[in-house]
Amino acid sequence: MTFGCSIVYNRPMHRPIIAIDGPAGSGKSTVAKIIADKLGYTYIDTGAMYRAVALKSIEAGIPLDEPDKIVELANRMDIQFRQVDDTRRIFADGQDVTEAIRTPDATRLSSPVSAIPGVRHRLVQIQRDMGKAGGIVMEGRDIGTYVFPNAQVKIFLTASAEERARRRCKDLERAGVKCDQEQVAKEIKERDERDSTRAMAPLKQAEDAVLINTDGMSIEEVVEEIIGIHNRKVNQCCTG
Ligand code: DC
Repeated sequence: MTFGCSIVYNRPMHRPIIAIDGPAGSGKSTVAKIIADKLGYTYIDTGAMYRAVALKSIEAGIPLDEPDKIVELANRMDIQFRQVDDTRRIFADGQDVTEAIRTPDATRLSSPVSAIPGVRHRLVQIQRDMGKAGGIVMEGRDIGTYVFPNAQVKIFLTASAEERARRRCKDLERAGVKCDQEQVAKEIKERDERDSTRAMAPLKQAEDAVLINTDGMSIEEVVEEIIGIHNRKVNQCCTG
């Protein structure tokens, strides 16, 4: 039997692509990093890439109503993920922007910037290039539907808006930033609405993705469930 054993992107199944999609605050980053560490895979946060373009547009003073200039900037931009002293960091044109892309302004702008087709085109190209060798955990909104529609493991993570706002506030407060949970919930809902209704590669569950609602689940439980799905796929391949 060859089910699940096909060579996708000329890559054998034993180091698959794990695509994790879902709305803001669903826990994608936390679990994706742990899974990548446990499996010895590369972790790629595609949201950070859209945030980096948003940040650089702000710094360059390019307004949203000049999308061509934002696309030009994205096309020229060099984006790299590097491991520095045990932390994963993102560099845009050689500058470490790991913290700067998390500011409220960059967060707000990342959603409309990600809806610009030319920006998506450029970043998807880089993402496909980063993932083509397999052995990656890539998280975002369109990984299972658009970036890697043939990914062998597809997960769609979700949680209620209230739970997601609570988690976001916890993260911000841990970083010493005061947080208004109601305001965060409102902003999360607005961003989800925009990300889900845009024309190109909107946020939606791939038909063959496994839906995991993380309300009431611990991080460990979510990680365990996804690694179980991964292991079953790999074993299916090797014994099928
Ligand atoms: O996951 P995040 O909050 O860091 O993502 C920031 C924005 O980037 C989010 O509003 C949607 C967008 N995004 C996207 O459109 N496609 C992706 N693959 C990842 C993020």
